[in-house]
Amino acid sequence: MYSIVRPEEMKRITTPELAQAFIDEQVKEIRTQVGDKKVLLALSGGVDSSVVAALLIKAIGKQLVCVHVNHGLLRKGEPEEVVRVFRDEMDANLVYVDAVDRFLNKLAGVAEPEQKRKIIGAEFIRVFEEEARKLEGIDFLAQGTIYPDILESDGVKAHHNVGGLPEDMKMELCEPIKLLYKDEVRMVGCELGLPYDMVYRQPFPGPGLGVRCLGAITRDRLEALREADAILREEFDVCGLAKTVWQYFVAVPDFKSVGVRDSKRYEGWPAIIRAVNTTDAMSATIEEIPYEVLHKITNRITAEVEGINRVLLDLTPKPVGTIEWE
Ligand code: XMP
Repeated sequence: MYSIVRPEEMKRITTPELAQAFIDEQVKEIRTQVGDKKVLLALSGGVDSSVVAALLIKAIGKQLVCVHVNHGLLRKGEPEEVVRVFRDEMDANLVYVDAVDRFLNKLAGVAEPEQKRKIIGAEFIRVFEEEARKLEGIDFLAQGTIYPDILESDGVKAHHNVGGLPEDMKMELCEPIKLLYKDEVRMVGCELGLPYDMVYRQPFPGPGLGVRCLGAITRDRLEALREADAILREEFDVCGLAKTVWQYFVAVPDFKSVGVRDSKRYEGWPAIIRAVNTTDAMSATIEEIPYEVLHKITNRITAEVEGINRVLLDLTPKPVGTIEWE
């Protein structure tokens, strides 16, 4: 734990020029701090770790080793996007770990939400640690800590999945965006050439789809959730809501209802749509989605997603509902 105060004279990064100046300064600082040593980073593909990765790639290239753990709970296309952007386009040193079976086997039969979170968090640290031990001669651990993390939780990233590595793996921390607010991180990300969708993506919980596949996760229901969520995101992109709504997603509960398809009885899960607006996630209001958009989403999900036969809309603000269902 540590406390750091953002210097009063530090200008708020509000223009591409200021973002560029920050990048130039950080590149110099990182090179001074790291020298010719290697740096390890858990790269989830979220805004903060992606910006740190891009900054470090600019400063030290292949001395950075990014580890992307696919825990099977990411949204459709996310692991592929991380590989495409960082390995293919930015030529990063990226270790891709397919840990899908490991996570889903550990989660099998576990229905209690906090227990699910604990399993996902603990397994993530275990996988990351195993990968770190395979790599030799790494002296630094980079993290996407940002200023609100420091203000809110004494420097321990509240929702961050990487709880640090064991003592015997002594690594010095490298946290180049720790004095930045989220909007500044995004501006820096744009200047570093990261895709708009990656930099301006909606918040996504660390445990991912794990807390939206309600109750005990099964592979078929998780797949249905991933597909339904992808359709919701596509349609929000098409109608422009993706640019204005703070967070929108699908949750799929673990019960079925009776339906009919091709004149036959067809039992399926409901897909629950939730779209909320907030400034601090402490309270949230409901976005009003036009009916024609809702009809289109419903038609597509029920026609295209195996196992889903109804679409429901969650109209509950926070309070009384939390944003996530679990
Ligand atoms: P709730 O559900 O508490 O969510 O109203 C508030 C915000 O926090 C996100 N959230 C999480 N983020 N790990 C995370 O990294 C979690 O376990 C977690 N639970 C909720 C949620 O998506 C919303 O943005």
